[in-house]
Amino acid sequence: MVQMNKRNVLITGGSRGLGKAIGGLLDESGRYNVIVPSREEMDLSSTRKITDYFNRNKTGVDILINNAGINILGGIEDIAENSLEEMLAVNLVAPLKLVQSCVAHMKSQMWGRIVNISSIWGIRSKERRLLYSATKFGLNGVTKSLSRELGGYNILVNSVCPGYVNTELTSKNIPLEEQEKIKSTIPLGRFAEPGEIAELVRFLVSDENSYITGQTIIIDGGFLA
Ligand SMILES: NC(=O)c1ccc[n+]([C@@H]2O[C@H](COP(=O)([O-])OP(=O)(O)OC[C@H]3O[C@@H](n4cnc5c(N)ncnc54)[C@H](OP(=O)(O)O)[C@@H]3O)[C@@H](O)[C@H]2O)c1
Repeated sequence: MVQMNKRNVLITGGSRGLGKAIGGLLDESGRYNVIVPSREEMDLSSTRKITDYFNRNKTGVDILINNAGINILGGIEDIAENSLEEMLAVNLVAPLKLVQSCVAHMKSQMWGRIVNISSIWGIRSKERRLLYSATKFGLNGVTKSLSRELGGYNILVNSVCPGYVNTELTSKNIPLEEQEKIKSTIPLGRFAEPGEIAELVRFLVSDENSYITGQTIIIDGGFLA
């Protein structure tokens, strides 16, 4: 049940990993109505399904957290046509479409927060992260442009760029032995827990954040330093 005295926050990819941790933390605070559409309710690989979702659900979104993302690894010669389309759709087109669907309400309130979950691979890149970097660099561009366009409406837009986080995405893409090698190159000597990233997001979407916008905030245990 949506409570009128609370802000409405919509989080994509809230079934597990980072999205689940962010949703849990915001819910716990008692300050928000947390809306977490499942893939069945809103499949992000299809703009039509996103439009359909908002046609069915008219609750105004005050805070949008574009968290869902996929990472199909491959070099330039390995990329299949459908991987290219799926990565662009889920990681870049869907966040844009979601902002389009939510922004009129935020403008009408003269208040809004948008957080795009990007990656360190949206700041730097490495082999086999071609599509991932293409989408995450793109998403950071979206953040910067939106912050300029929407600042006058008191809508603050930021990217959060995590390094390695202990989620299924990481365990699926990086064999255990390689994980240990990577940890030895991180100043803090370990991967992040999802809750540590969620803490940053919690601050960025709150009233306490009144002046950070247009930023790509790296949270990586010092890895890129
Ligand atoms: N893990 C890391 O080390 C790391 C580092 C930097 C950035 N990130 C970014 O952080 C975000 C979350 O990553 P994570 O590690 O938590 O990933 P994850 O554990 O793999 O979870 C991905 C989430 O996205 C949802 N999703 C994927 N494709 C979808 C689609 N077509 N429609 C609707 N939902 C879809 C999944 O839903 P289902 O349960 O239905 O599959 C799931 O809830 C991503 O944007 C990722 O790029 C992660």
